[in-house]
Amino acid sequence: MSALLALRGVTVAFGGLVAVDDVTFDVEEGSITGLIGPNGAGKSTVFNAVNGVYRPRTGSILFDGRDIVGMPSQRIARLGIARAHQVVRPLTDLSVLDNVTVGACFGRDALGLVAGRRRAAGVLEQLGLADRASQPAGSLNVAQKKRLELARAVAAGPRLLLADEVLAGLNPHEVEEMLGVFATIRAAGVTILMIEHLMQAVMHLSDKVVVLDYGRLIAVGTPAEVQADPAVIEAYLGDPHAAERLLADEP
Ligand SMILES: Nc1ncnc2c1ncn2[C@@H]1O[C@H](COP(=O)(O)OP(=O)(O)OP(=O)(O)O)[C@@H](O)[C@H]1O
Ligand SMILES: [Mg+2]
Repeated sequence: MSALLALRGVTVAFGGLVAVDDVTFDVEEGSITGLIGPNGAGKSTVFNAVNGVYRPRTGSILFDGRDIVGMPSQRIARLGIARAHQVVRPLTDLSVLDNVTVGACFGRDALGLVAGRRRAAGVLEQLGLADRASQPAGSLNVAQKKRLELARAVAAGPRLLLADEVLAGLNPHEVEEMLGVFATIRAAGVTILMIEHLMQAVMHLSDKVVVLDYGRLIAVGTPAEVQADPAVIEAYLGDPHAAERLLADEP
C-alpha cells in the first residue's frame, strides 16, 4: 500500500511550547490508522497541521505525493481531506440535514445545493440520523452531535477522513454502532486517520497505530506491537499496571 498522507519531520510550536516535535509517519491508502497518546500529546495539533489550521515550523506534509504545507484549509478540503472535530460546534439553528449539506457543498466535490442535500440525506441514513434530519442541530444530544459531526465530514466525500475522538461521550452500544459506521466508511474507499482514547476500539479498528507523547512519536506498529511496547505503556499512564488495565479495557 502506498502512503496517501505522509508527515516528514513535522514540528508545530506555539511560542516556546513544541506541541508536535519532528513527527514522521505514513497513512497508507485504504487503511485505518489510529493516532493515540496521553492528553496534550499533540494529536489534535497534528490534525490542525494536516488540514492547514496551523502551519508547521518545519517539515512537510504530503497528500497523495503533494506538499500541502501552507495551503489554506479550504483548498486542502477540496483536495479531499475532511475532519470531524473533537469539539463539535454544529450550526445550532440549522436543521441536521442542512448542517450535513454544508459539508457536502464545501467538500471535495463542491456539490450544488440539490446534489448536496441528496448526498446529505444518504449520509444521514448511513449514520443512523435520518429520523433527526429536520430537527435543529442544537436540539441533538451529545452522542447525536458526534454523529452529526462525522456525517458532515463524510458528506464532503473525502479521500482522507481525520476523525478526532468521535467515540468520546458515546455509550457502549453507540460505540458498537459507530465501529460499524467506520467499517462502512472504509469499505467505501475512504482512508481514515482516527484519534481515540478508547483503546479497545482503536486497537480493533486500526491497521496501524501511531503513538505520540509530549509531541514526540514514540511508537508506530500494528495494534499488537504497540500494545506490547513498554515505552507506550509507560508513557500512556506513567504506570505500567494501570496501562495494562486500560489496554484490557477493564474498569
Ligand atoms: N492554539 C494553541 N495555542 C497554544 N497552545 C496550544 C494550542 N493548541 C494546542 N496547544 C497545546 O499543545 C499541546 C498539544 O495539544 P493537543 O490539543 O494537540 O493535544 P491532544 O493530544 O489532542 O490532547 P487531548 O487528548 O487532550 O485532546 C498541549 O500542551 C496544548 O495545550
Ligand atoms: Mg485532542
